[in-house]
Amino acid sequence: MNIIFLGPPGAGKGTQSKLLEDQYGLVQISTGDMLRAEVARGSAIGQEAKSLMDAGKLVSDALIIAMLKGRIAQDDCQNGFILDGFPRTLAQAEALDEMLKADGKSIDVVLFLDVDEDILADRISGRFTCANCGRTYNEVSNPPRVAGKCDACGSHEFTRRADDKRETVVERLKEYRKLTAPILPFYEKTGRLHSINGMLPTAEVTAEIKAALGEIPKITQK
Ligand code: AP5
Repeated sequence: MNIIFLGPPGAGKGTQSKLLEDQYGLVQISTGDMLRAEVARGSAIGQEAKSLMDAGKLVSDALIIAMLKGRIAQDDCQNGFILDGFPRTLAQAEALDEMLKADGKSIDVVLFLDVDEDILADRISGRFTCANCGRTYNEVSNPPRVAGKCDACGSHEFTRRADDKRETVVERLKEYRKLTAPILPFYEKTGRLHSINGMLPTAEVTAEIKAALGEIPKITQK
């Protein structure tokens, strides 16, 4: 089972894909997290990506497609994966279908988290992430059960993202509208797109996603 999460910045892709990873035993792949790890390492990929990410722009298709192709070829992805943040352009969507087809695989379902733009900036400005396991929280809407302690791994260390400043979020939204939103029809026309109301509380969004996945017979919950 291979799943894609689509949606604007702050829609809840990371939050929901991490929850599904735990429950369905699929590997979550966040291209944003992969790039941030490259930036932290100071690698050639990180150096190429950093200024674009800081400006709220997408990195090049060639770079991200090569990175993703290497990741999904790894052993832990062979039973299925959840893509969070890829594809972001029509060229990426087409390249993904091609690379999976070469291995006799495909994308089974695309979950589009539909959220009005006016609430995205507030969500992003309240976001913080566990430095150890990557679980995402929000000061207002999704705090940890025990203040200052990650629900998933118990870590007390949290980080905030460099590109979560309001002016960068404006640019990220522009990129989303111009380059990413146009790929929705690509998945709609092949019957793979499920629209989910991402404005509900987190647990209710998860319930809607599970209902959508429940219609797919191959998936087995842990
Ligand atoms: P990336 O890391 O992918 O960021 P993004 O797509 O902008 O999405 P976010 O991570 O900001 O949001 P999310 O939808 O995951 O929301 P979250 O669950 O955290 O990309 C970063 C950059 O990397 C890009 O700008 C680009 O430069 C580069 N990049 C990455 N992939 C690329 C690609 N394929 N091609 C080219 N460039 C690429 O939730 C947000 C907040 O809301 C949290 O605080 C959360 O707790 C809260 N929240 C979540 N759900 C709810 C809810 N239902 N109700 C209330 N609050 C909620």
